Amino acid sequence: MNGNPFDLDDAATYQRWRERKLAEAPARADDLIVEVGDPRALSDAEHAALMARVRRCNMAIYAGARHDADGDIPRRLGAQFGLHRLDANWLAGEDGVSEIRVFADGTRRLYIPYTNRPIKWHTDGYYHPPEWQIRGMVLHCVRAAATGGENRLLDHEMAYLLLRDQDPAHIRALMQPDAMLIPERVDEKDGVRPAQSGPVFSLDGEGNLHMRYTARTRSIAWKPDVALQAAIVALERLLNLDTTQVFQVRLEAGMGLLCNNVLHDRAAFSDDPERRRLLYRARYLDRIS
Ligand SMILES: [Fe+2]
Repeated sequence: MNGNPFDLDDAATYQRWRERKLAEAPARADDLIVEVGDPRALSDAEHAALMARVRRCNMAIYAGARHDADGDIPRRLGAQFGLHRLDANWLAGEDGVSEIRVFADGTRRLYIPYTNRPIKWHTDGYYHPPEWQIRGMVLHCVRAAATGGENRLLDHEMAYLLLRDQDPAHIRALMQPDAMLIPERVDEKDGVRPAQSGPVFSLDGEGNLHMRYTARTRSIAWKPDVALQAAIVALERLLNLDTTQVFQVRLEAGMGLLCNNVLHDRAAFSDDPERRRLLYRARYLDRIS
């Protein structure tokens, strides 16, 4: 390989990558969608169409004809894209696939994903230790909400590009290994988890860009650093401007998101009491290969 576009000292490789990235970027959310028959067993053409989108923007949406509540769908879909190592979330079902729905009681109702409240921009697992990062994800919709529940999506590589274009110092600041601090907290699985820090942007062993971020302010603290504050403000502005690179989608029954843990949020929703919103979420330590 000749150079890495995410190397701040290699402007030439970055410029080549940047041009292709912008040229190939989907213009609208609809461009992300691929109609499929059975997501558990894609045809070669369906697989290629989804893969082409993931290559361009780290995400794709399948629209399948199966509407049954089968937790096997996200797992079998993911396996076709090299996603195997599931994140064993202590709140997940035994098979490592989480049901995302409103829980009226139990521990889950204390966590925003399991309520009908909005979730701010984030990547999944931003609070995990560096050696345990969520790189791939499948979010499969069994039943949509009566109203609301849309997701906004932004390719984290595009966020990187837009920030680096504004000022490479933003990237440098966001790559600091102590940029974000997750304070000590109590986790029901592991007990007290010590405070830990990590970068927003990092590169994995193969040179792929990874991003950890949350717009929440309660569960994290930012390093008090002028350059970092400027970078965070720039990122927030980018996310809230709804630039043309931000896509809004509503997953309907049978649809699902396949992605390399891109930036996303969720709008508040209201449920039909007879048919409550249900999504399956599978998170992986693997990246789509
Ligand atoms: Fe998420």
